[in-house]
Amino acid sequence: MNKPSIYITRKIPGELVNIYENQYDIRMWEKEEEPVPREILVKEIQHADGIISMLSEKIDEELLSKAPHLKVVANLAVGFDNINVDAAKKRGIIITNTPDVLSETTADLGFALLMATARRVIEANNYIKTDQWKNWAPFLLAGTDIHHKTIGIVGMGRIGEAIAKRAKGFDMEILYHNRSRKEEAEKKLGASYVSFDELLRLSDYVVSVVPLTDETKRLFNKDTFRKMKPSSIFINISRGGVVDEEALVDALKNKVIEAAGLDVFKNEPINSEHPLLKLNNVVCLPHIGSSSIETRTRMIQLCLENVDGVIQGRGAKTPV
Ligand code: DGY
Repeated sequence: MNKPSIYITRKIPGELVNIYENQYDIRMWEKEEEPVPREILVKEIQHADGIISMLSEKIDEELLSKAPHLKVVANLAVGFDNINVDAAKKRGIIITNTPDVLSETTADLGFALLMATARRVIEANNYIKTDQWKNWAPFLLAGTDIHHKTIGIVGMGRIGEAIAKRAKGFDMEILYHNRSRKEEAEKKLGASYVSFDELLRLSDYVVSVVPLTDETKRLFNKDTFRKMKPSSIFINISRGGVVDEEALVDALKNKVIEAAGLDVFKNEPINSEHPLLKLNNVVCLPHIGSSSIETRTRMIQLCLENVDGVIQGRGAKTPV
C-alpha cells in the first residue's frame, strides 16, 4: 500500500523529518531561502495528504481545489492570514498553526526592537563602524527612556501578554486594548484595559500584536498616527497589512510620531527602495519575530505532529 504523502514547502532540517520517513512519503522544496514556485506547489499538492506551509505560500481556493487528497495544512507560524480558512473548512481540510511555542521568543524580539528603536542601537552601531565616533558628547546619539514609560499593547493574546511581562520588569505602565478584556492578565501583570483611542493618546510606545483580519486591516493609518503623541514610538511585530505604510511614512517624515520599529511589512521581502527604508527614525527587521533556533525547531516539530495527528486520525494538536 502507498504511504501517505507529505509535502513541505521549504527546506527544513532532515533530522526533524527523518523520524517520519518510515510512515510517510515526504517531499520537500529544496531551497531554504526561496519560496516554492506556485506551479511546483500546484503539482505537489495534487498528491499530498498533508502539507507544511510557510507564510510565503498563498493557500487559496484555487490551490485547494487541486488537492483531492489533502487533509491538513500545517502553517509554520501562529498567523495564518496566508490561508483561506473558509475554503479549507468547506473541503474538510484542517488548518493548524503554531501558537504558544513562539510567544516568548516573539516577545523577546518585540522588546529588542522597541529598545533598539528607542535607544538608537542600530544607528549607534553604524556610527562606530563607519568611523564617525571622534569624541564623547553629552547628547551623543541620545535616545528615549523605556523604563517608567507607558506601553500600549494592541492585541492582548499570548504574545501581547509576554510583552507585558517584559514591560513590567521595566517598571512601565501597561495599557492594552483587545477585543475582550483579559482580567487574569490585568491582575497578573498590572495591565489596564483602555479604549483604542485612549491607548493611542496615552502611550509612549504603541506595540501592534494584532492578527491581520478584515477588522484590523490598516488599523494604523493617518487618523490613528495623529492620535498618538508626537514623541511616541510605533512597534509592529504582527503583520504589515495592519498598517497603512504610506501614512506611516508621512507620520515619520513629518514628526507626527517619533520613530518606528518594524519586523513586518505589507509586501515581504520589502524592497530597499521603499520610502520606509530611507528614514533614519525607522528600525527594520526581516520578519524574524519567532526566529530563534530553539523556537523554529519546536515550530517545525509541532507542524509535523499536527500533520501526523490528522493523517493518523488522532486529530491536530493546534487546529485554528
Ligand atoms: C508568526 O508565527 O505568525 C510569525 O509572524 C512568524 O514568525
